[in-house]
Amino acid sequence: MERLHKYLARAGMASRRQAENMIKEGRVKVNGIVVKEMGSQIEPGLDEVRLDNKEVVLRDDKIYILLNKPTQVVTTLDDPQKRKKVIDLLKGINERVYPVGRLDFNTEGLLLLTNDGELAYRLTHPKYKVDKVYIADVKGNMREPAITKLRIGIILEDGPTMPAQVRKLKQGNITTIEIAIHEGRNRQVRRMCEAVGHPVLSLKRVKFGPLKLGDLPVGAYRYLELQEIMDIKEACSYQRDD
Ligand code: URA
Repeated sequence: MERLHKYLARAGMASRRQAENMIKEGRVKVNGIVVKEMGSQIEPGLDEVRLDNKEVVLRDDKIYILLNKPTQVVTTLDDPQKRKKVIDLLKGINERVYPVGRLDFNTEGLLLLTNDGELAYRLTHPKYKVDKVYIADVKGNMREPAITKLRIGIILEDGPTMPAQVRKLKQGNITTIEIAIHEGRNRQVRRMCEAVGHPVLSLKRVKFGPLKLGDLPVGAYRYLELQEIMDIKEACSYQRDD
C-alpha cells in the first residue's frame, strides 16, 4: 500500500505538497470515487487512480531540465495576470514538468524543472539544506557590518534567517555580492539585502546544490547529465527506492 499523495508525486503529477492540494480539491478519483481524505492509501498497479479524470500510471521516464530563466517570466504554472511562464520556454519538451521551487519574476538564472516529484519535494524541504547561490547587484557600497549581519542572520517579518555565506565581489556605488542560502523563503535575498539598507537591483541564481548554471545562455535549457542527476539526488539523500 502507498499513500495516495506520494503515489501522485512518484508518477510525476506534482510535488507531494501540490498532490495533497489536488486531493483536497477533489481532483483525484480512486476506482471511480473521489477521494478527499488526507492519508488515503492505494495499492499501486491494482487500484485505478485518476487525476482530472486522466489515468495516472507510474512511469519511469523521469526528466531533469536546467533552464536559465530570464527576468520577466513567472515560475508558476498558472498566472492570473497571463504573464509569460517558464514552461513556455521549453519548446520540444512533451513531458509535463514543473519548476523545483521558484524564482521571482525579476530574478534570472538556474531553475531546475522535473517530473520527479520526490526529488522536487526533497529539494524544497528545508530539512535537506541544499545551498542556493545567488549573485546580487545591490544599491550602494555594502560594507562589512552589513555583510556580517547577512552572514549571522536577519530578523525578517517571517522570522530570523539562517546564517548565510556572503562574499563581496565588486564594490562602488553598486556592490556585487555572492550569497548562499539554503532556505527558500519568498523573496528572501531581496528582503535580506533590503533589511541591511541595500535594495537588490538585479539577482541571478548561479548554483543549486551541486548544479551550476555555467555559460548556458539566458532563456536556454539543457537536460541534466547522468552524473548531475546522481549528484543532485545525493545532495538531498534521495535513492530511487527509499
Ligand atoms: N531570493 C529572492 O529574493 N528572489 C528569488 O527569486 C530567489 C531568492
